[in-house]
Amino acid sequence: MPDTTIKTEILIHDLKVPISVIDAGAKSLLNRQDAYGPLTDKQIKVLNRIIRNTLTTQRLVNDVLELGRSREGVMITCDFSIASLVTCVLMEVFDLSDPGVADIIRKIQTYDELEKAVLAGGVRLSFDSRIWKSVVHLDEAKVRQILRNIVTNAFKHRSSFVQISGSIGEKQLTLKVKDDGRGIPQADHQKIFKTYFTTGSSLESAIKSHGLGLAGVMVLLKDMGGELILNSEDGKGAEFIVKIPL
Ligand SMILES: Nc1ncnc2c1ncn2[C@@H]1O[C@H](COP(=O)(O)OP(=O)(O)O)[C@@H](O)[C@H]1O
Ligand SMILES: [Mg+2]
Repeated sequence: MPDTTIKTEILIHDLKVPISVIDAGAKSLLNRQDAYGPLTDKQIKVLNRIIRNTLTTQRLVNDVLELGRSREGVMITCDFSIASLVTCVLMEVFDLSDPGVADIIRKIQTYDELEKAVLAGGVRLSFDSRIWKSVVHLDEAKVRQILRNIVTNAFKHRSSFVQISGSIGEKQLTLKVKDDGRGIPQADHQKIFKTYFTTGSSLESAIKSHGLGLAGVMVLLKDMGGELILNSEDGKGAEFIVKIPL
């Protein structure tokens, strides 16, 4: 590995400490008003925004470090169920977009309850019970990062819903994420997998988009021997299909 890559990765790793100090400080102000003084509604709103953004930053740091591990061929495999994978991803996505739904998901036990809770947040789950309970042996952190990126994109670009489904064959796991947004024109189908490509042009979208998500997904999939298929036409939503060999 080139020297500069190691230095960059150490630097990224070292961001973890200051980020968690910011996070802990904001949470103290919010949750310990007895010790730190009472807050106005506006101040609570700002603190919640700070906490959500520290979470996003923590995830970006972890994702970049996971890509580094992947490049070095480090695989940490374990047994996990499709249920736990999808539930975790939904929790991570709702934590940022609709924390109320995330709190409900945390307390849920069954598929039917989860299906109902996320439907209120615009997500249609479509798993049969055999697949939902199936256990696979893969690198969970990597699979979760892949699914979270694709679901987050679908959330960002949907018009009203996101549909998540999956199936398991003898030799591969297939996960599908579909949305009803503006879709991706054929001319951009190759480009969106390239680093730093985004279709947003305003300053706001430049802050929110990095064009790193799908490029990272491709790196992780390649290292796991998987593939990503995109079905989309301009104006007709997008469907991303992930296939990972078991
Ligand atoms: N579901 C989707 N619908 C429409 N466009 C999408 C979708 N997913 C990804 N894209 C396009 O691909 C680009 C790259 O995605 P990504 O690499 O995740 O970067 P980011 O999400 O940071 O913009 C996005 O900026 C967007 O233009
Ligand atoms: Mg993205």
